[in-house]
Amino acid sequence: MRVTFLPEGRTVEFEFDSMPYQGHGEPMSLLDVAQNFNIFLDHACGGVCACTTCHLHVKEGAAGLGEPEDKELDRLETAAGIELNSRLGCQAVIEKPGAYVVEIPKWNRNYVQEGKPAHGPGS
Ligand code: FES
Repeated sequence: MRVTFLPEGRTVEFEFDSMPYQGHGEPMSLLDVAQNFNIFLDHACGGVCACTTCHLHVKEGAAGLGEPEDKELDRLETAAGIELNSRLGCQAVIEKPGAYVVEIPKWNRNYVQEGKPAHGPGS
C-alpha cells in the first residue's frame, strides 16, 4: 500500500489490511491512514460524516476506494470547491491494495496555517 498526500508530498507505505484503527472515520479510510502516520487532515466532526473539513481530492486510485454512500454524497454537496474527484477522507475507505494520491484542498491548508499558534517576533 502506498498513499501520497499532496501538497505536502508525503508518501506513506504499509501492508494492506495491517493498519491499526485510530478511532477516527471509517477503518482504513483515508483519514484513518492520515491519523496513523501523523499527517494533518482536519476532521472537525471526528469522522462521522457530519462536516466537510476532511474533504480531499483523489488524484489516483479512486477505483480502489469504496463507493461513496448517500450520506457522504449529501454531505459533499455542502463542501466548498467540490470536484468530480472529491471525497470525504473519513468515509473514503481503501478496499484494494495499490497506490493512491490524494490532495488536501487549499482552504483546508489555509485553515491549518491559521490554526497554528502565532510565533511573532518578540512573543
Ligand atoms: S471528518 Fe467530518 S465529515 Fe469527515
